[in-house]
Parts: sequence; structure tokens; C-alpha cells
Amino acid sequence: MTGGGLRLTTGAVAGTEGVAARLGERLRPGDLVALEGQLGAGKTVFVRGLAAGLGVDPALVKSPTFVLHHVYGSPPRLHHLDLYRLGPGARIALLDLDGLLESAPAALEWAGFADLEPWQPLRLLIEITGDEARRIEAAEPERAPARLVAAWRAAVAG
Ligand SMILES: Nc1ncnc2c1ncn2[C@@H]1O[C@H](COP(=O)(O)OP(=O)(O)OP(=O)(O)O)[C@@H](O)[C@H]1O
Ligand SMILES: [Mg+2]
Repeated sequence: MTGGGLRLTTGAVAGTEGVAARLGERLRPGDLVALEGQLGAGKTVFVRGLAAGLGVDPALVKSPTFVLHHVYGSPPRLHHLDLYRLGPGARIALLDLDGLLESAPAALEWAGFADLEPWQPLRLLIEITGDEARRIEAAEPERAPARLVAAWRAAVAG
């Protein structure tokens, strides 16, 4: 179920984890995945999949809503951030994203709260379309690095 190769609908948690794992396999330090979507959309589930794709035990992935930042793996393999607590207009400068990205890729929940333009993220929107159905789509792919868009396309293609 793809549209232009940049979106898909998953029918269960495993589907979301699967496409995220295929993306995770292709991520490198410096890559930023910006996740947007309402409460319970599946952003943390998606990060669990990214972790698996990066060789990190997905059971380590916790919702960082109250922590702002988790790092998985040693040396770091994935940074997991969440702007929920900072709210709209979040001051991303507080998080030293540049420093974090030197060591590993990063996934950011509630990414819509900050202006991430300077970091050229791959923006993924997750929408609840049914009890267990989630539409996951790359937003404004023309603004994301071509390699990340290609990685997402490959993940969607399976
Ligand atoms: N296809 C699916 N993909 C992802 N999650 C699903 C799917 N179907 C059902 N779910 C359920 O949706 C919920 C997603 O929760 P998750 O914590 O990942 O959301 P979130 O977007 O991170 O929310 P928050 O904004 O609170 O951080 C889980 O309870 C999960 O079991
Ligand atoms: Mg979450």
C-alpha cells in the first residue's frame, strides 16, 4: 500500500516496527528522523523499529517524554529525543543536536514543536487511520537529503 513510494499504511505494530527497522539499517551518524503525529500515533513504536535496524535491543527503547533524551548503544548507535515537554516553539538549541549527531543518527518525537530546517531532517508524519492502522508518510521530501529520502523509499518498498 504505497503512494509515490513515500508512504504506506501499516496494519499492526509489527508493520510499523518493520518499516522503521528497514530505515534504521540505512541510517548513519548525522541523520535526523523527525517524527510527527498525535498522542499514541506510534512515534515511539517507530523508534523501537529504528533501534532494531541499528542493532540495538528494541526493549531498551523507552518513551522519553519526561526525559528529553535517551541514547542507546555504546558507542552510541541511536539518539532518541522528544520535544513534547518543551511544547510549541521548543528551543532546540538546548539539546546540542549537532553534538549528538556526530556520534549516531537521531530520532525526534514531537518534531513539529521546533524549527529543524537547519538540520535537514527526514520528516515522517504518522496518522491514525484505524484501530491498528497507521499511515506513515514522508513530508516535504524535496527538503530532505536525497540519501535519506532514498533510504525511506527503500524501507517502504520492503
Ligand atoms: N500499526 C500500528 N503502528 C504503531 N502503533 C500501533 C499500531 N496499531 C496500534 N498501535 C498502538 O498505538 C500506540 C502507539 O504508541 P506510541 O507510544 O508509539 O505513540 P507515540 O506517537 O509515541 O505517542 P506519544 O505522543 O504519547 O509519545 C501503541 O499503544 C501501539 O500498540
Ligand atoms: Mg512517544
